[in-house]
Amino acid sequence: MRGFSFKNVTSIILIASLVWLSTSAICNAATTAKYWRHTARQLQVHTDKSKQNKGLKFNVLDFGAKGDGKSDDTKAFQAAWANACKAEASIMIVPSGYKFLVGATSFSGSNCHGNIVFQLDGTILAPSSKAWGAGVDQWIEFTNLVGFTMSGKGTIDGSGSVWWTDSIHDFKQVSISKDEKKQTSKPMAVVFVGGSKLTVTGITIQNSPQFHLTFDNCEGVLVHHISISSPGDSPNTDGIHLRSSKDVIIHHANLACGDDCVSIQTGCTNVLVHDVNCGPGHGISIGSLGIDGIPACVSNITVRNIKIHDTMTGVRIKSWQGAKGLVRGVSFSNIQVSKVEVPIMIDQYYCDHSTCKNSSSAISIADIVYENIKGTYTVQPIHLSCSDSKPCMNLKLSNVELKPKPDGHQMSEPFCWKAFGQLNAPIIPELDCLQKGQSSNKWGLHDATCAA
Ligand SMILES: *[C@@H]1O[C@H](CO)[C@@H](O)[C@H](O)[C@H]1NC(C)=O
Ligand SMILES: *[C@@H]1O[C@H](CO)[C@@H](O)[C@H](O)[C@H]1NC(C)=O
Repeated sequence: MRGFSFKNVTSIILIASLVWLSTSAICNAATTAKYWRHTARQLQVHTDKSKQNKGLKFNVLDFGAKGDGKSDDTKAFQAAWANACKAEASIMIVPSGYKFLVGATSFSGSNCHGNIVFQLDGTILAPSSKAWGAGVDQWIEFTNLVGFTMSGKGTIDGSGSVWWTDSIHDFKQVSISKDEKKQTSKPMAVVFVGGSKLTVTGITIQNSPQFHLTFDNCEGVLVHHISISSPGDSPNTDGIHLRSSKDVIIHHANLACGDDCVSIQTGCTNVLVHDVNCGPGHGISIGSLGIDGIPACVSNITVRNIKIHDTMTGVRIKSWQGAKGLVRGVSFSNIQVSKVEVPIMIDQYYCDHSTCKNSSSAISIADIVYENIKGTYTVQPIHLSCSDSKPCMNLKLSNVELKPKPDGHQMSEPFCWKAFGQLNAPIIPELDCLQKGQSSNKWGLHDATCAA
């Protein structure tokens, strides 16, 4: 046993480790240096090349666009895009003083360089008859762009009025077969799918047949200083519609439409909406979530400094029965309401037709903050209608002051069902119906459906 003490073993291990560490450090240093020399060379080549092409301009007029509001300029737009696509940070120009009639078009970014700018100062107009839109889900679509800016003083006008008279349901509300959808769907105006680092600024989008501006499966979205406008009675004309998108900031926007000013759908996380005017419309909504039992997950949503006037609801969370998933971590603060039918609403029994079935499964809703919500309502100040099986948990209301402003509707008292949380005065009117503490239903804060 002599010469094999524990101490000796320790020193052998220590020396071995030191030798290993120093050799690997040398190896790593050599590899790193090689890597950086290689990358520097590549960067230089890349920079030299893109310097020549950077900022190349492609004006749709140079590609045959007439801009007279009558000729079909779709092909000219596609040709300008095909060229803009080939250069880094190129600029596609839609000049002011023209009205470009453009049919359903997809601007694909799949094989494009990054950081393209779509400089919109003129007007892009959809055809006014419905013929172009049969079976078309979107009018102007941008797919798979990395780094893209749409900016300018221009307008995108969806000529939607021909679509609004239809009483048909759209796919957002009711599940219908694909064939049926082909016949009945109404196009959304501007849709981004699968993009990242996207900016939309300055422009106006108006009179969409359906949603005005949609982001689906996007990451890193910035929308600011824009206007959206359609009549308060134009059906399903949501202002900004977010779906499966993360890291989204919307600020300084004027949103007037016939449905939700902003609607936040399943798969959205890290969304910030601030300094927005909303109305007419249906307010700022999370949902509707979980139609047909489709799992829904929404988390970390902040909505602050918002003026809402003449809308159906103010800030709302709505979900269908029979769904799985969760809504976690939502904050609505500094919300000024004026003549809003129902300023604060949670509806876990959302149903827009008469045949909804009762179900025991539901999306769980928890950690929702309502702070500094003030102004006037015309029907009911607060409506918290939560699920029997998954009551709403940890609702926090502080400094809420809502006053009636009758305008012919029947007025109701605040309503709560299975809603748990806490109140910080002042709360006007009183909200006796909110239950203190936790529900006895133990469903946990985690949901396998939404596990990362
Ligand atoms: C929540 O979203 C905000 C943007 O509104 C973001 O800054 C923040 O990092 C997010 N929080 C987490 C925990 O991801
Ligand atoms: C569903 O449940 C609600 C509340 O318990 C009840 O008022 C309603 O009648 C039920 N509807 C159906 C179709 O069973």
